[in-house]
Amino acid sequence: MEAIQYSSYKGGAAGLKRVQLPIPEPKKGEIVVKVEAISLNPFDWKIQAANVRPFLPSKFPFTPCTDIAGEVIKVASDVKKFKVGDKVVAMLPPPNGGGLAEYAAVKATQAVIRPHQVSAAEGASLATAPLTAYQALTGSGGLPKDGSMTHIKNILITAASGGVGHLAVQLAKILAPKSHVTATAGARNIDFVLSLGADEVIDYKTPEGKTLQSPSGKKYDLVVDCAAAGTPWSTFSKVMSEKSKIVFLDPSPKNLWTLIVRKITLSKKKVGILFTAQKSDELEFLVNLIKDEKLRVKIDTVYPFSKAEDAWAKCIDGHATGKIIVET
Ligand SMILES: NC(=O)c1ccc[n+]([C@@H]2O[C@H](COP(=O)([O-])OP(=O)(O)OC[C@H]3O[C@@H](n4cnc5c(N)ncnc54)[C@H](OP(=O)(O)O)[C@@H]3O)[C@@H](O)[C@H]2O)c1
Repeated sequence: MEAIQYSSYKGGAAGLKRVQLPIPEPKKGEIVVKVEAISLNPFDWKIQAANVRPFLPSKFPFTPCTDIAGEVIKVASDVKKFKVGDKVVAMLPPPNGGGLAEYAAVKATQAVIRPHQVSAAEGASLATAPLTAYQALTGSGGLPKDGSMTHIKNILITAASGGVGHLAVQLAKILAPKSHVTATAGARNIDFVLSLGADEVIDYKTPEGKTLQSPSGKKYDLVVDCAAAGTPWSTFSKVMSEKSKIVFLDPSPKNLWTLIVRKITLSKKKVGILFTAQKSDELEFLVNLIKDEKLRVKIDTVYPFSKAEDAWAKCIDGHATGKIIVET
């Protein structure tokens, strides 16, 4: 089978190499999937860029990517949940990667069935990005999962045109239909983000965008910061309500410092940093939202496997509207 790997830090798309590897055999508890679609996430190129050195990757050469959709071709004898021919969505663990290949070995616990209504491209989009959005809003952000009453009335989602942000806007409205959602995006994406259900959208390049002030004067009870823009804490603090929370998706030293200082000073404006966890019950919930047409994935571009390097470069560029997909 063909796989795409890199053998050292840095190098961007030019550092990717195509290699021939044996099709994996399923170990205990595993299935082998013929990959149909892979979704790229910024974390994939950030590992290559040495942002999480020395923790990731676990070894070189490394086959990147975690989010795949495909068809089960082999099943270990102890796996009862899947059979050959099942269509699945899976999230591989980031230390192992292995997604940017024609076949992948997947722990059965990390896969869920993909209903026929969900395309392979949609399915591949349904791991890291929506799980991040969901866990930021619920686990870290404090929105109830069952739609019950919450003190969280006003929500800000930054970079709402991106892979995570466009799903976070929709999930905020699903989880808390009465909430008021303010979002930030570039001018070209304002109508798109409004179509997702945002109540107001601020162009992030304008003076209002830089101060994150709600056009209707709202103070935010919950902020999900999907932009890796390094907005200072003082900017967020001014627009957050007295008892509020911000969830950073970027575990930068600056955001970690903000978290430590808020904890030490017992601030009522709380800070969380999210590390997305693979949870197949949540993945299944999200797949079903797509199947039932309650959630929609915006796909920026689908690249054939022969052009995966272009997809990688597009992801590094950071200007996708929605998800970037590679199809085998
Ligand atoms: N902690 C975790 O476990 C975890 C998990 C997933 C993702 N993340 C992080 O979350 C962040 C978002 O991921 P993603 O997949 O959504 O990224 P993405 O799809 O690459 O985001 C690109 C989008 O963000 C917009 N954007 C960029 N800077 C902006 C700003 N300052 N204000 C408003 N919009 C802005 C861009 O709009 P324009 O084209 O108009 O500039 C583009 O549409 C990344 O830093 C990623 O590493 C963390």
